[in-house]
Amino acid sequence: MAANPSSLLILHPRLNVYLKPFVLSLPYFSSPSLSFNGARRFLIPRPPFPISPRNLSSLSSTSVAQSTGENGGGGGRSGALSPPPITEFVQKIDVNPPKGTRDFPPEEMRLRNWLFHNFREVSRLFGFEEVDFPVLESEALFIRKSGEEIRDQLYCFEDRGNRRVALRPELTPSLARLVIQKGKSVSLPLKWFGIGQCWRYERMTRGRRREHYQWNMDIIGVPEVTAEAELISSIVTFFKRIGITASDVGFKVSSRKVLQEVLRCYSIPENLFSKVCIIIDKIEKIPLDEIKKELKSTGVSEEGVEELLQVLSIKSLAKLEEILGSAGEAVADLKQLFSLAEKFGYSEWIEFDASVVRGLAYYTGIVFEGFDREGKLRAICGGGRYDRLLSTFGGDDLPACGFGFGDAVIVELLKEKGLVPELSLQVENIVCALDVDLQGAAARVASILREKGQSVDLVLESKPLKWVFKRAARINAYRLILVGSSEWQRGMVSVKILSSGEQYEVKLDELE
Ligand code: HAM
Repeated sequence: MAANPSSLLILHPRLNVYLKPFVLSLPYFSSPSLSFNGARRFLIPRPPFPISPRNLSSLSSTSVAQSTGENGGGGGRSGALSPPPITEFVQKIDVNPPKGTRDFPPEEMRLRNWLFHNFREVSRLFGFEEVDFPVLESEALFIRKSGEEIRDQLYCFEDRGNRRVALRPELTPSLARLVIQKGKSVSLPLKWFGIGQCWRYERMTRGRRREHYQWNMDIIGVPEVTAEAELISSIVTFFKRIGITASDVGFKVSSRKVLQEVLRCYSIPENLFSKVCIIIDKIEKIPLDEIKKELKSTGVSEEGVEELLQVLSIKSLAKLEEILGSAGEAVADLKQLFSLAEKFGYSEWIEFDASVVRGLAYYTGIVFEGFDREGKLRAICGGGRYDRLLSTFGGDDLPACGFGFGDAVIVELLKEKGLVPELSLQVENIVCALDVDLQGAAARVASILREKGQSVDLVLESKPLKWVFKRAARINAYRLILVGSSEWQRGMVSVKILSSGEQYEVKLDELE
C-alpha cells in the first residue's frame, strides 16, 4: 500500500458541515411509510368490510389459521390442498421461531460458522469428502421396526402428490441410500462427511432441540476396527482444536457383539437382537422393572435377563474377557480398538462401558458415545458400526461405520467451560464518499479493493464522519478510505489506518 506521509492531517474537518444537509434531503427521511419519530408504519391494504374493535378481537390466531387454510382441509395429511388464500389482514405474528427451532442472527451464525469450519477442517485433515442429501426424504427410509425413539419423533406428512415424506431425523439412512444408488461406480473405501440439519420431535432438554445440525463422518468398505479407531481419532482432533481436553470429555465404548454373545447363549433369535438393544438403551430413562418386563416380552428368559443386566454393568475389558472368554469377536474387536487408541495417542479419552448400546437399530459392532465428565449434558456425539444397513434397503451390504456429532450439546459444553470464542464481525475496509456526487467514485474504490480480495463495507448513504467512525469500530475495520473531491480530481483517495490513526493519501492504482 503506497502511503503519502505528507498529508498526515486530520481528515476533512469540513465534512460534518457539508454532509448534514444531505442527510435531511435523503428519500428515506421523507418516506410516507415512516412516522416522524422514526417508528415504521405499515401500509395496510383496505379490508373488504369495516373493521370494528369486535372484528379485530375475533381475529385470533385460530381464526386466522382457519381463514388461511392452515388447519382446515385435513392439514398436512391431505395431498389435495389448494394454496392458502392470501389474507387481506395484517396479523400480528409471533416473532419467535417455532418451539425447539432456532434463528441464527449474525452473532449466532458466526459461532455456527466457526463450529462448521472446524468440522470441515478436521474432515479435510482425515481425507474425507463432503456430501449432502435432501432434508426431505421418503418416510420409508426412517421406518424401522425395532421400537426406536427416533421413529416416534419423526416429522412426517403426506405431500401434495400423496407421497409419505419426512424431514430427516439423521443422515445415515440417506447416506446408505446414496451408496446403494452409486453402486459399483464408486471405489471403496468411501470416506464421506456431511453437515446437515436434522429434525426430531423431541422433548426439549439442555442441548436437545427439535432441529439440530449434525456433523457426520462415515467410512464405507472397511471391515476392520481401524475404521472405528480413525473415526474416534477425528473427534479427538476436533475436541483438541476447540480447546476441549480429555479431562472435560471422554468416550464410552462397547460392542453390540457383547450382547449378541450373551443372547446367543440363551438361544434368542437373531431377528430380535436390535429390539433387545433398543430396550437396553432405555436403561437410564425408565425403571429397571420396566426394562426387565420389556426384555421378557421379547422372549428372553428370566435367567437370560439377569445375565444380560449383569454383563451390562461391566466397566472393564479384563472383566468382560473373564466372563465371555477371549475367543469371541466382541472382546477381540474391543482389545484391538484400545490398542489402536494407544498408538493414535488418545487412550486417556476412551473407556470401556458395556452399558453403551445406542438407540438406533442398525448398529452391529463397536458403538461409542462422547460424554462430558461432569455428567451435566446429554451425549455429545455417538456412532458405531452398521454393517447390515444397506441390505435393509434392498442393497448389497458393505461394511460401514460412522458417527453423528450435534451442534447443540457442544455449544452448551463450550459455555460451561468458558471456551466459546469471541467472534466479531471483521470487514477489512470501510469506504465512504465525502460528497453524494462521489458515491460512484467510492463504489469504484470498493470494486477495485474487492477485486484484490479485500472485504469492503461501502457506506451507501450520506453520513456524518462521526457515524462512519462508529460503524468502522463496530465492523472492526482495519482502515477507512475516504473519497473526497480534491483528492479524487488528483486520482487519489485518503486512507486512515484505524488502529494507529496514521493517515495518508494514496493513488487509486496503488491501492492494495
Ligand atoms: P444419534 O446418537 O441419534 O446418532 O445422534 C448423534 C448426535 O446428534 C447426538 O450425540 C447429538 O449430539 C446430536 N443430536 C441428536 N438428536 C439431537 C437433538 N434432538 N438435539 C440436539 N442434538 C441432537 C445418529 O443420528 C446416527 N445417525 C449417527 C451415525 C452416523 N452413526 C453412524 N453414522
